[in-house]
Amino acid sequence: VSLKSYNTFGISAFAKFLVEIGSLEDLTEILKDPQYQSLPRLFLGGGSNILLTGDFEGLIVKINLSGIDIIAEDTDTVLIKAGAGIVWNDLVMFAVAKGFGGMENLSLIPGTVGAAPMQNIGAYGVEIKDIFEELQALNLKTLEVETFKLEDCHFGYRESVFKHEKKGQYVILSVTFKLRKNPFFKISYGDIQKTLEEAGISELSVKAISEAVVKIRKSKLPDPAEIGNSGSFFKNPEIPKDQFEKLKEKFPAIPSYPVNETTVKVPAGWLIEQAGWKGYREGEIGVHAKQALVLVNYGNGKGLEIKELAEKIQKSVFEKFGIALSPEVNFI
Ligand code: EPU
Repeated sequence: VSLKSYNTFGISAFAKFLVEIGSLEDLTEILKDPQYQSLPRLFLGGGSNILLTGDFEGLIVKINLSGIDIIAEDTDTVLIKAGAGIVWNDLVMFAVAKGFGGMENLSLIPGTVGAAPMQNIGAYGVEIKDIFEELQALNLKTLEVETFKLEDCHFGYRESVFKHEKKGQYVILSVTFKLRKNPFFKISYGDIQKTLEEAGISELSVKAISEAVVKIRKSKLPDPAEIGNSGSFFKNPEIPKDQFEKLKEKFPAIPSYPVNETTVKVPAGWLIEQAGWKGYREGEIGVHAKQALVLVNYGNGKGLEIKELAEKIQKSVFEKFGIALSPEVNFI
């Protein structure tokens, strides 16, 4: 089975088997099927955070669990439960249309609801941990459904328990979010304020912020339908403050965000641009011209070529700044 349409990088690779499941019953049936027992398995949402570096000699399970339901509400808040297969931005648009606040800064992030908690997706000063209520996941060993509350998920910057202690042990089935009926807005990050002003918007609303975020993202980030990519390829590195102070003497323009007393975060896009990679192209692959943190596939690029390019970038950033970049994307 060709996986080209199952990964936003648009990499041509093949899987031995691929099944799409639309219910918990289908999922457990597949997991019990003797035909697939001995094979490696990969559970896939929107395929927006993976790099396929070769063919997959196993079973790919595409999770299509659907449904968006308001399951509880009071005067201030509302709980919305969404199936893991729902396209993330469709859920955001549902909330925005109803005027429920909390996810508007996360508009247009690619991928599905089920993939979102894996790496605690975030943008413009909001992460899903800020609006997370609970999730349900299938334990692959016991085939029982378990509930994870906020404290069980160990969310961090692009991190969760599902990438660490519980890696490969669960399939997320649904996620419940807590949104606000009387929203308050986070517009201090990046260009949101400027974009609102340019659009002549003086009264803040969930919709206005969502539209501003969509505009900013469209201006910087390539649309995977046109140019293959997985969003930010690397995480923004966190470095000790002393190291940052020394770098600042040498590179006075270096941007940073405080993390805590002793640590700062540095935008990887800036480091990569300074190392000379922005807009770089090598045959079918390259570095996006408007955002150096995004690696792109112009059509027929191979996963291994992207991996090699990523390694060259890591090496050159390390040589120039002494900072090791780690990928945000999962290599398969
Ligand atoms: N910058 C450059 N050159 C570049 C790119 C960025 O100098 O080529 C500088 C910008 O000028 C700015 C800073 O780096 O000062 C930050 O850039 P930007 O606001 O574009 O965000 P980012 O740090 O590169 C992060 C997330 C994005 C998220 C944006 C907005 C990570 C790894 N990435 O990117 O998330 O949309 O902030 O909040 O944290 C993703 O995870 O896939 C993703 C797109």
